[in-house]
Amino acid sequence: MSQVRSRAWQSECRIQTAPSLTYGIEPVGGPGLTQMAVVSTGAEDYPAELDTWITLPNGKRLHIRPLRPSEESTVLNLYARLSPRTRYQRFHLETRGLSEAVLRLLVDVDHHHRLALVAENDAGEDGVVGLANFGAIDDESVELGLVVCDEWQRQHVGTELACKVIQAAEDRGFCRFVAHILSDNVAIRRLMKGKGDILSARTSCGVTEIEFIRRKPSSN
Ligand SMILES: CC(C)(COP(=O)(O)OP(=O)(O)OC[C@H]1O[C@@H](n2cnc3c(N)ncnc32)[C@H](O)[C@@H]1OP(=O)(O)O)[C@@H](O)C(=O)NCCC(=O)NCCS
Repeated sequence: MSQVRSRAWQSECRIQTAPSLTYGIEPVGGPGLTQMAVVSTGAEDYPAELDTWITLPNGKRLHIRPLRPSEESTVLNLYARLSPRTRYQRFHLETRGLSEAVLRLLVDVDHHHRLALVAENDAGEDGVVGLANFGAIDDESVELGLVVCDEWQRQHVGTELACKVIQAAEDRGFCRFVAHILSDNVAIRRLMKGKGDILSARTSCGVTEIEFIRRKPSSN
């Protein structure tokens, strides 16, 4: 599917109220609906408390840190190392380059309404190996995005990043999460299993929009 055809397909299939972190397309709902999601002060209020280290079950250690505004090269380097399949699962486009619109959305972080966490292998030459991000849709909902580069998949990086970005969103007052996933994406479904309570799921053109809240640990 070409990029041009994909764009047309997206606008046929989806009604947007905010630029999507998956597609980066502009909203069709009118400026009033989108103000909350797209306004960024540009001022950096770096959340140092999100800068941390994790140890994976296999003993490898990764540095988790918030992406700074305008860290385009970090995102582009990660994207360049993703396989076509992983790119397609994350961005739903068969394209070699990351579109300018999506890149802009990913790096336009204000650490409140738009936040991204990267996992870095400081010990090796891999650099950034995963990225999880959210963007506010309204006062209580955010859209989530998550990707781990191929050679680091199935080592628990995705689970760690997802938990941390969801916690960061909750700490900022958001409680509902939206993700756009390809209907045959087994990995993300397994990752989500048991961690969230699904509020709604709508499938259109092979993409499922899932809305969920985090499952609280049971008290008994
Ligand atoms: C989805 C994704 C982020 C998962 O990252 P990951 O680091 O491999 O995930 P984890 O290692 O934490 O594994 C989470 C669960 O998924 C399972 N899993 C991971 N990859 C899998 C695969 N290819 N097939 C089946 N199960 C898989 C793991 O076994 C684990 O299950 P468990 O908790 O029952 O043991 C990664 O596969 C990816 O980047 N995919 C492309 C982008 C994407 O699909 N993003 C989601 C839409 S925004």
